[in-house]
Amino acid sequence: MTSDSTARRRILTGVRPTGALHLGHYAGALENWLRLQREYECYFLIADYQVSDYADDLDRVRESVIEVALDWLAVGLDPNDSHYTIESMVPEHAELTTWLSWWVPLGMLQRNPTLKAEMADLEAGKSVPVAFFNYPMMQVANILMPKAHLVPVGDDQLPHIELTREVARRFNRMFERDVFPEPEALVGRVARLVGLDGDAKMSKSRNNAIFLKDDEATVTQKVRGMFTDPTRLRATDPGHVEGNPVFIYHDAFNPNVEEVNDLKERYLVGKVGDVEVKTKLAAALNTFLDPIRERRAYFEAHPSEVREALENGTARARATAQATMAEVRDAMRINYLDRLR
Ligand code: TRP
Repeated sequence: MTSDSTARRRILTGVRPTGALHLGHYAGALENWLRLQREYECYFLIADYQVSDYADDLDRVRESVIEVALDWLAVGLDPNDSHYTIESMVPEHAELTTWLSWWVPLGMLQRNPTLKAEMADLEAGKSVPVAFFNYPMMQVANILMPKAHLVPVGDDQLPHIELTREVARRFNRMFERDVFPEPEALVGRVARLVGLDGDAKMSKSRNNAIFLKDDEATVTQKVRGMFTDPTRLRATDPGHVEGNPVFIYHDAFNPNVEEVNDLKERYLVGKVGDVEVKTKLAAALNTFLDPIRERRAYFEAHPSEVREALENGTARARATAQATMAEVRDAMRINYLDRLR
């Protein structure tokens, strides 16, 4: 047994299984996961309870659970050292959500800015399922389940971490025990990566993403079609570098700083065309993605290793969850049958 002083602090973080992962996921979150995976004990969650917006497309969810696992393996998250977890296969997450929602007033969810924005998006087309309204609560349960200390996420998730801290405090105060630590959030190097079309956020649903699994030709073609500086009509016009998606990507993914600075200097004075900037960007992205593609191809050819990663990780996460639930029941004194001795 490891003593508390040598046990690693814990991370819980997750994604919704709605498709393959893209560069925005990488710069906003995955990169931090990779950097911290040895220092922390990591629970990586595939949050399939959180995709009620795909209720009429469960085939997509079914595929995406595997896609996400493949992407994680491809970027190098070690499934033996961390715990790849399929949320619904640890039903304690649903249980803890139910208990914790006793201590969260409706108004607290109604004020959650991320939920508000997402609801506004949804309401335009269709009605809002109860599950959607409740997903931040579920996320609270996800994070508290392994008693996570740190939650590396994209910046749109910050209100949910704040909610988690609040619920942890309330629970501990209510039952006069330190059951749950108050987790910290950690946002990535690029809090929110712009889309290919210059939209504020790269996302699958906006069709403005470069996926980690895109092949070389696809990446080159997507880069060629990228939005640049709309005020610049020809290569000899002085251009804008700041806020320009091609340069944002160069900064985020091209390790050759000299090349990037040279391009920027020439762009500002109208001495380089978009074509050269984009050709160099495509080359940098392809160099970055190459080893990821290679590992993905390996795991695609070895499905039993993917299965093992998910099965073993989920089993370990379930054991942790059961231990936490025992503590929660004990704190709440709802171990009813213990009275009958
Ligand atoms: N809601 C998160 C997202 O859309 C995914 C997620 C689910 C999550 N459970 C989590 C993130 C717990 C951090 C912690 O990105």
